[in-house]
Amino acid sequence: IIKGVIFDLDGVIVSTDSLHYLAWKKIADKEGIYFDEEINHRLRGVSRIESLNILLEKANRVYTEEEKMRLADEKNNYYIELLKNLTPNDVLPGIIKVLKVLKEKGIKIAIGSSSKNAKVILERIGLLNSFDAISDGNDITRSKPFPDVFLVTAQKLWLKPEHCLVVEDAVAGIKAAKAAGMFAAAIGDAKKSVEADFILDSIEDLLRYV
Ligand code: BG6
Ligand code: MG
Repeated sequence: IIKGVIFDLDGVIVSTDSLHYLAWKKIADKEGIYFDEEINHRLRGVSRIESLNILLEKANRVYTEEEKMRLADEKNNYYIELLKNLTPNDVLPGIIKVLKVLKEKGIKIAIGSSSKNAKVILERIGLLNSFDAISDGNDITRSKPFPDVFLVTAQKLWLKPEHCLVVEDAVAGIKAAKAAGMFAAAIGDAKKSVEADFILDSIEDLLRYV
């Protein structure tokens, strides 16, 4: 029985995944490093610094820790600029309806994101006060595929992991949900995950499973 639904943010609630891509692409181009959409999928759900390490796999030299910190900061500055254009109109289709139906059913709703910018994003899209709990990159040190962010979220909701269902667009996020002992619903790129319990063609499909 599902008592709580934990939503990933980037790529599930709002398409910031494409903004992450643009910001990383700018860094990659400046550094002369090959980067494409396929590599970008691997950045879904993982932390900023881990994303940078994946991007640097294609670099033809080794970067020092200091250089990495600088590049990660630079990426985040571009990304924050892009976030300024977000409005409530950017909430993905179907989300508002799904949140409303879950609330009516008495199911708790939460955000479990690897991003340190999660609250800024939720504020911009007008959903900062819509959830029973928000956990993000500031609550954890190990990001997805580790289960930590979802376990912290379940604690904040006062729910056992087995009563939680996670909605994810990242393969790493599905792994994290399963490692947490939760149900996992895959949307978008995560549909290729073999570990997902449910595959969603649209977010409304979620309502079939709660
Ligand atoms: C996740 C994204 O939500 O947040 C990742 O899917 C991103 O791609 C991670 O790297 C960290 O985001 P931020 O905003 O802290 O740089
Ligand atoms: Mg995501």
